Amino acid sequence: MSLETHQLRCTECGATIAGSEVNSIFRCPNCNGLYDVIYPWSPNADGRSMETNVPNASALRWLWQERRSSTLAVDQSGVWRFRDLLPILKSTDNVVTLREGNTPLYELPRCGKATGIDWLLAKHQGMNPTGSFKDTGMTAALSVAKERGFEWVACASTGNTSAAMAAYAARAGLRSIVFIPEGKIAWGKLSQSMDYGALTIQLKTDFDGCVSILTELVKRFPIYLLNSVNPYRAEGQKTPAFEIVEQLDWQVPDHIIVPGGNLANSAALGKGFIEMHQLGLIPTLPKVSIIQAQGANPLYRWFIDSNRVMKPVQAETRATAIRIGNPASWRKAAGIIESLGGWCEQVSEQEIALAKAQIGAEGVGCEPASAVTLAGIKKLVALGKVDPDGRAVLILTGHTLKDSQYTIDYHRNELLTPAEAAEATPRQAAQHAALRKPPLVLDANPDVVLRALENHMQATQATHEPAVPIA
Ligand code: F0G
Repeated sequence: MSLETHQLRCTECGATIAGSEVNSIFRCPNCNGLYDVIYPWSPNADGRSMETNVPNASALRWLWQERRSSTLAVDQSGVWRFRDLLPILKSTDNVVTLREGNTPLYELPRCGKATGIDWLLAKHQGMNPTGSFKDTGMTAALSVAKERGFEWVACASTGNTSAAMAAYAARAGLRSIVFIPEGKIAWGKLSQSMDYGALTIQLKTDFDGCVSILTELVKRFPIYLLNSVNPYRAEGQKTPAFEIVEQLDWQVPDHIIVPGGNLANSAALGKGFIEMHQLGLIPTLPKVSIIQAQGANPLYRWFIDSNRVMKPVQAETRATAIRIGNPASWRKAAGIIESLGGWCEQVSEQEIALAKAQIGAEGVGCEPASAVTLAGIKKLVALGKVDPDGRAVLILTGHTLKDSQYTIDYHRNELLTPAEAAEATPRQAAQHAALRKPPLVLDANPDVVLRALENHMQATQATHEPAVPIA
């Protein structure tokens, strides 16, 4: 069955090419712009579709629901279940899937209370097969690599893209090369790319340096580039937007909060919402706001600059997944903020650590980069940019086990420097103290254990909040 009906459109100059004509660096030869995948029903610059014969919204809703009970891998995938809105392959036989997507939407009642918001939800993309949102994009782009006959695929990564790429390449029988910044990614992620059989190269540079080297390499060798400049990644990464509204019985949340690193994911989710709106699947659009770590905040600086100039920064944050100073997709992300009316904020290391512990204490957990969403929404509520009576969804991008060292250091009170810890307000300091749960090392003696338990109960009586069940 032939599904392919797409083209690529330059997001800068608007030039349109066939998917097979794109060069190895996925940049427009005229203006160096990045591409978006477009379909006959995609909105033009004026917001209208090129074609009136658009897919029928009710039929799509029914079909997507039906596929959930199918035993076919392509239907069980939470990306390819929506394949009618990502016709990028000639044949579904080329789909490479680990049954990604179909991730849970959790309520976060205690985090909501701490934020001053009634209804706070988390879409947990860390519950994907390799533990991050990257799987939804990788199934799409790697399937294209397979269909186009590539033998080698490669990416530069802060750790999650590389884990996802290595896994999907292994499933497809392709060979993969990973470039990661030496010493600057979490061990769990490094172990994944080795486990899945990738050639793993640690370069003595940062993420932005890895991207430059890889860009040179793909110009010289027939390697398929799987960084997020590859527009097919976004086609997979837009599908969580479909899932969110489907999980809410087709009600549209008021606000989506996304972490920002290389800035492709926020743009992909925005594309998903805009396409659903275009097709009449949803009546309104949510705002999409992006949160960056204070030490890796080029989009935030652009946002508060009255001249709106983007200047790369030297990035530094313990949230290593978003330790990116020169984000490739910043224009796409900026476009989503502007067109959907969102906001951009930055959060400190102390605020990230607190938010991560609060998400952990809900029994959900996430990696540090994901926790910027909770830290950021607190600020957006305080600034009046998020309606406390509205419905907000945090996009949790990575699983808590991705960076267990961070969590251990936090609970042992060894994570933050004294200067960072001193930035906490008295309320935040009290919250840290209540959340920290360092392990106790005791003699294997029941009396000793009982005494320790009594001491612990007395010490925590005052701070323990009653549990609220999580839906
Ligand atoms: N959260 C996590 C857990 C990530 O791994 C990333 C990016 C982001 C958020 C930011 O998403 O780049 O689309 O704005 N990780 C990339 C990687 C860069 O190589 O794994 P973005």
